[in-house]
Amino acid sequence: MSRHQETRLALFNDKWAQRETLFARHAPLPFWAPGLLLTDATRSVYEHFLPVSEYAWDLASVLSDVLPGTFKNDAFSAWVPASLRQPPASLPDLWATLPPPVAGRLTWASADLWPLACALAAPLKHGTTAGRYPEQQQVLRDWLQHRGGPRFAVDYACGTGQGTWELATLLPPGSLVVGVTVEPLESWLASRRDTSYLEWAFQMRDAKCDYPAVDDQVEVDFVAGDFHSLAWRQETDLIVCNGLIGGPLLNRPGAMRDVWHCFARGLSPGGLLLIGNRFHAGRAADVAAFLAQRPDGIREIRADQHCFVFCS
Ligand SMILES: C[S@@+](CC[C@H](N)C(=O)[O-])C[C@H]1O[C@@H](n2cnc3c(N)ncnc32)[C@H](O)[C@@H]1O
Repeated sequence: MSRHQETRLALFNDKWAQRETLFARHAPLPFWAPGLLLTDATRSVYEHFLPVSEYAWDLASVLSDVLPGTFKNDAFSAWVPASLRQPPASLPDLWATLPPPVAGRLTWASADLWPLACALAAPLKHGTTAGRYPEQQQVLRDWLQHRGGPRFAVDYACGTGQGTWELATLLPPGSLVVGVTVEPLESWLASRRDTSYLEWAFQMRDAKCDYPAVDDQVEVDFVAGDFHSLAWRQETDLIVCNGLIGGPLLNRPGAMRDVWHCFARGLSPGGLLLIGNRFHAGRAADVAAFLAQRPDGIREIRADQHCFVFCS
């Protein structure tokens, strides 16, 4: 870090350490701990002493010094994790997305900044790992048996991309698979197969987060963007979309209709569409509402609790 950046971080730490001291002296609450019940009253106390928007703005400014890109004076560039660009209702709500050794901390060392940015962009709740949807693997193997030759596949909402790389292990040589996620940092981590921030965040290695080895005859690429706004030059033989539809990130009827529109427009004749989720039972109504919107031209082959298979 340059001297200027170190000074900026020191000022940030001084400011938020003082605010923490004020909280400890005057707030009518003990400091946050994992599992603290968040009521409106708790949130308003935190907002009084430690306003989340101000903290998010300040943190985005110091994180900007370590993020990729050339926007150094634009703290709210797309590289800044969405959880800081559109912060939740209070700091404890933000902490609830982070792992325990990191959650509840207000100040940082310079070496923390990069892994912290990654942990904010790819929070635990996204849970991207390989091997999450074994049913899909089998369906895909069967489908590929009758369809030799290179394939073009897109993995929408790919998170940190372990599932995208796993897909690539199954595709024939010459295929191209593109992972799409709305968080630029997730896409950056996915393309570099980088899990180093997890060691910092969890203080341990988790083999489930490792990237599968892929034959270099299959090309793997990643794009950062909202998938509604993307168009491809060619039709897609295989579309995968896991852990998104019907969950907390995408459940409004209009958004679900747009997703169907995007899939129906993109899938090649005879193409395969795989949708998976591991949501809890409370999400069943939203998932059913999505299935009920299936347009003409997309045929359902199979749909059980977690694994939906369609064909065009
Ligand atoms: C729960 S994660 C699922 C990751 C992975 N597909 C899996 O199932 O393991 C959902 C991902 O969708 C991404 N996402 C949310 N809305 C999106 C959108 N409109 N376009 C592209 N990605 C989106 C999030 O950034 C997040 O990485």
